[in-house]
Amino acid sequence: MRVDVVFTPDEAGAAPTGVVVDVIRATSTICQALDAGYVRVFCTAAVEEARALREELGDGVLGGERNAVRIPGFDLGNSPREYVEPAGNTLLLSTTNGTRAVVAAAQRCDRVLVGSLLNLNAVVDAARDAGEDVVVVCAGVRGTLALDDAFVAGRIVELLGWERTDAAEAAARLVTTWGGAEEAFRASKSGRNLLENAPELEADIPFCARESVLDVVPRFVSMHETAAQIAL
Ligand code: MLT
Repeated sequence: MRVDVVFTPDEAGAAPTGVVVDVIRATSTICQALDAGYVRVFCTAAVEEARALREELGDGVLGGERNAVRIPGFDLGNSPREYVEPAGNTLLLSTTNGTRAVVAAAQRCDRVLVGSLLNLNAVVDAARDAGEDVVVVCAGVRGTLALDDAFVAGRIVELLGWERTDAAEAAARLVTTWGGAEEAFRASKSGRNLLENAPELEADIPFCARESVLDVVPRFVSMHETAAQIAL
């Protein structure tokens, strides 16, 4: 079995199993929300799609960020710490890079799992159990590689222990250059964006840097128009 990594969703690369990673912070938020008791998360690339979906469903918590801060009129931002208690059954989430990456992976993989450091062991076990080649789809930042996602991709590659593409080998080798996840996250573009635009949310970084503290494996269920529905 083989594992590949794409460092941005626009990069070519497909496999039967896709694991989407936007560790700072969208996929950490999705894992935390479903672990806390949300039943489903609809990921939308555009803010207006999330608003329109809530209108259509007549229900749902609007969550997400632009430039790291809560979208005006939304109920919650994109801090996973806001999702330790459910505020409803359905979360409608729109973020700058992460929700777009989920939608992109759903278009080219047979099954899509949502990965973060919080659910690392659980998502690696699920990818292995699926028994087919894996591509880790990193969200990156606006079409460019982000070191935080590359770090988590490298951890997934290490734990799978399968044959690696050059990109997967690069991600695994990157891991060993850092003192740990938090150091990598703080140095990354995603981490720096968060600290510059929302310094009051700095605690999100150590929160997202905890490894295998959640036993959930969020999965893509179906598209609802342009929104990707994720559930356990
Ligand atoms: C993203 O989708 O790029 C992230 O949600 C950014 C963030 O958490 O601030």
